Amino acid sequence: MNPVADVKGKHILITGGGSGIGAASARLLSERGALVGVADLNLDNAQNVVEEIQSSGGKAYAVAVDVTSPEQVKGMFDSAFAQAAKIDVIINNAGIDHMPAPLTEVDDAMFMKNLQVNLAGVWYCMKNALTHMTATGGGHIINIASVAGLRSAPMISAYSASKHGVIGLTKSAAVEYARANIRINAVCPSFVDTPMVQGVLARMDERGRKGLIGANPMKRLGKPQEIANAIAWLCSDESSFMTGQAVVLDGGMLA
Ligand code: NAI
Repeated sequence: MNPVADVKGKHILITGGGSGIGAASARLLSERGALVGVADLNLDNAQNVVEEIQSSGGKAYAVAVDVTSPEQVKGMFDSAFAQAAKIDVIINNAGIDHMPAPLTEVDDAMFMKNLQVNLAGVWYCMKNALTHMTATGGGHIINIASVAGLRSAPMISAYSASKHGVIGLTKSAAVEYARANIRINAVCPSFVDTPMVQGVLARMDERGRKGLIGANPMKRLGKPQEIANAIAWLCSDESSFMTGQAVVLDGGMLA
């Protein structure tokens, strides 16, 4: 048995698995023997991750999904069930951000979009997962939130509101479903070096870039693999007594 965060034989579905933290998690979990469903709005990216995994001998499949659509989320679960009868873990990772700006300058459509993708998307996936896991005897839901869901996040108010919502959903549902053998936890990174953050950095001046990269005591961005390592541990049975938590990986930002 692999002694570290053993996920061998588990079926793990990841939304937003075509890029950044989701792709790093898909690679790591498949290396450790899980069957990984890589679901993404961008099917080409999801397929690239799957091909990479398969060419290294891992097991994975790609699914197209827009998590803001309840019908497409249902379709994603149907595709996952075509691969294996049970889903052990779902990682609700698909997300978007918005350009930093004072609240009055964030337009209403961007506020709604952040809520739709980051919060309603998690809600739809949780509803399907909870129904399925209740029927199959248990499972684990891992929601990727953010430090912006735990404390003030000036200039990214819409994103922050959506991530606070994800942590609320995580905690409430964890208590509701603990007796059904379903664990629900959140992961809260600070800035991680992914296409999402590179997109923000590219639109900032030098001072802004320095401020963002140095926003934690380690004075660096997190690496996607560092978040994936924690996700892998959560996916394993080593985390079996843990539910309703928001796990922080932030280079000391909240300390
Ligand atoms: P990313 O932009 O590299 O990847 C996000 C993925 O989600 C993309 O593949 C994108 O196509 C997919 N996606 C977006 N909208 C979707 C939709 N409607 N339906 C299905 N898929 C959709 O971003 P990153 O950085 O890997 O972020 C992953 C998660 O981690 C997000 O929830 C993000 O909010 C969260 N997070 C990221 C941090 C960072 O600094 N990168 C910090 C804290 C949290």
